[in-house]
Amino acid sequence: MRAVLLGTTAGGGFPQWNCACALCVRARSGSLPSRSQDCLAISGNGTDWWLVNASPDIRTQIAACSFLNPGPGPRDTPVRGALFTDAELDHTLGLLTLRGGTGLTVWAPGTVLHALRDQFDLRTVIDGYAPVAWREVDADQFDLGGLLVTAIPISGKRPKYARSSTVDSRWVVAYRFEDPVSGGVLVYAPCLASWPEGFDEVVAQAGCVLLDGTFYAASEMGSATGSSSGQAAMGHLPITASLPELRRFPEVRRIYTHLNNTNPVLDPSSPESFKLREAGVEVPLDGTVIEL
Ligand code: MLT
Ligand code: MN
Ligand code: ZN
Repeated sequence: MRAVLLGTTAGGGFPQWNCACALCVRARSGSLPSRSQDCLAISGNGTDWWLVNASPDIRTQIAACSFLNPGPGPRDTPVRGALFTDAELDHTLGLLTLRGGTGLTVWAPGTVLHALRDQFDLRTVIDGYAPVAWREVDADQFDLGGLLVTAIPISGKRPKYARSSTVDSRWVVAYRFEDPVSGGVLVYAPCLASWPEGFDEVVAQAGCVLLDGTFYAASEMGSATGSSSGQAAMGHLPITASLPELRRFPEVRRIYTHLNNTNPVLDPSSPESFKLREAGVEVPLDGTVIEL
């Protein structure tokens, strides 16, 4: 299987349009590399590609990834659809850019499919351009162009726009992709509120794990932006808590993604980045290709 990190930051990207924190200022001046919002592309056969989440930056992300070039026919595309880990805007809005694409399938937990009709009716809007096949992921493994996919429920974090929803389960899943030919396993979990029960086994059996790296520390939002409303960690397990867990799996390739613009690991010369390197954990840039 081949996976491309199309984007590696949390909602807002890096730099964020309205943020004057020290890191965003350096990204704006070019002294730190800019990054787009979290999104992955994955393929088991090299022909059929799937987006995992659809970020608001999807147009430029697709344009920058040669595997996703359209062709050979004038309106052919290797993009077959998307899998959503959750219903957050930074993971779903990109679908609006793909409107009118024919034959697309979107996989998501039932709770997410429900929110995308009931609280934020993306589904009706999209289907008005070209119907999308909406598929619910449950506990059963399914086949995606030769990749075996499992959705692993990991959190009950719901989007702010869905705060009135009465549904209270499976708001966030991780995806486990297995290539039965190579034996490679990739786990993608860009939104993780705590270290879930049973996750040890999921990580231990993987060749590569992409994990929620939104915040380095729980207090980060408040201290970087000077805002007293900076909520602690906002449903994202900070790196200070997940790194000790990841240290227990030195043989697995471990990557943090969905980095918030306040996260000091965006600066490779920070002491926090040094700690990650010393633990063998990576924060690769947009465009990184992973083969398993
Ligand atoms: C999150 O990851 O917590 C959300 O995407 C925040 C947001 O973008 O509104
Ligand atoms: Mn997010
Ligand atoms: Zn910032």
